[in-house]
Amino acid sequence: MRAHVFPDYEAMSTAAADAVAQSLEEEPSTVLMLPTGITPLGMYRRLVEMHRTEGLSFAGATFFNLDEYLGLTPDHEASYHVYMKENFYGLIDADPARIFVPDGTASDPEVECERYEAAIAEAGGIDVGVLGIGRNGHIGFNEPGARFDSRTRVVELSESTRKINAADFEADRAPGRAITVGMATIFASSAVVLLASGTNKAGAVAAAVEGDVSESMPASMLRNHPNASLFLDEDAASDLGQGVAG
Ligand code: GLP
Repeated sequence: MRAHVFPDYEAMSTAAADAVAQSLEEEPSTVLMLPTGITPLGMYRRLVEMHRTEGLSFAGATFFNLDEYLGLTPDHEASYHVYMKENFYGLIDADPARIFVPDGTASDPEVECERYEAAIAEAGGIDVGVLGIGRNGHIGFNEPGARFDSRTRVVELSESTRKINAADFEADRAPGRAITVGMATIFASSAVVLLASGTNKAGAVAAAVEGDVSESMPASMLRNHPNASLFLDEDAASDLGQGVAG
C-alpha cells in the first residue's frame, strides 16, 4: 500500500479524479466502485468539470456503489442513491443501465446482496475501487470486526458511525443497518484508492498504515493488496510516523 500525501484537500481530490480519468482513458469500459461521504465530493466535482470542459466520457463505464442504508427509499434525501445522483451520476453521461446502488428497500435484503455480488461478477469485477474511511477505520460500511473474507451483506452499524452520520438525518442517529459490499469484494478490485482528509481521520489512517493488519481495523486489509494507494491530505497524514501500535 502506497501513501501519497498532498498539501490540501483540493490537491488530493484532483489526484483522485486524475486516477479515475486515467483508467477511463485507458479503458472506457472501466468498472468503478464508488464511495459516498464528504471526502469524495471534491473528486466528483473535478470529474464533473473534466466531463464538461475536457470531454471526459463515462458512457462506457460501469458503476457500483459501496453501500446503502437499509430501509431508505431511493428518493430519500439522505439515501446514497440521491447523494450519487446529485453529486455525480446526474451530472455526467453515465449509462443508467450500468449504475448499481444497493437497494435498501429490497423485500429480501439477503437476496439483494446476492444479486449485487452477482452483478459485480457479471461486470467482470471491479477495476478501480475508490474508498473513504470512517474514523474507526471502516471502509464501505464494513465496521471493525468485519471479516476479511466477507462478501456483500447486511451489516449493523456501530453507535459511533450512526452518531457521526446522523448529520444527514433529522434524527440523532443514522439508520442501524446497511447493505455494504464486502471486504473480500473490495480486496478483489484490481486497484484501490482510499481517500482521507482532515485531522479526524489521522488516527484511523495511522492505525491502518502502521498498526497491525487486523479485522479490528478494516482499512488495514489494504496493506496486503497488490495495488492499493492512500491519497491523503496533510491533516489526514498528521499522525503517521509517530509510532502507532495496533
Ligand atoms: C460513511 C460511508 C463510508 C465513508 C464514510 C466516511 O460511513 N459508508 O463509505 O467512507 O462515511 O465519510 P466522510 O467522507 O463523510 O468522512
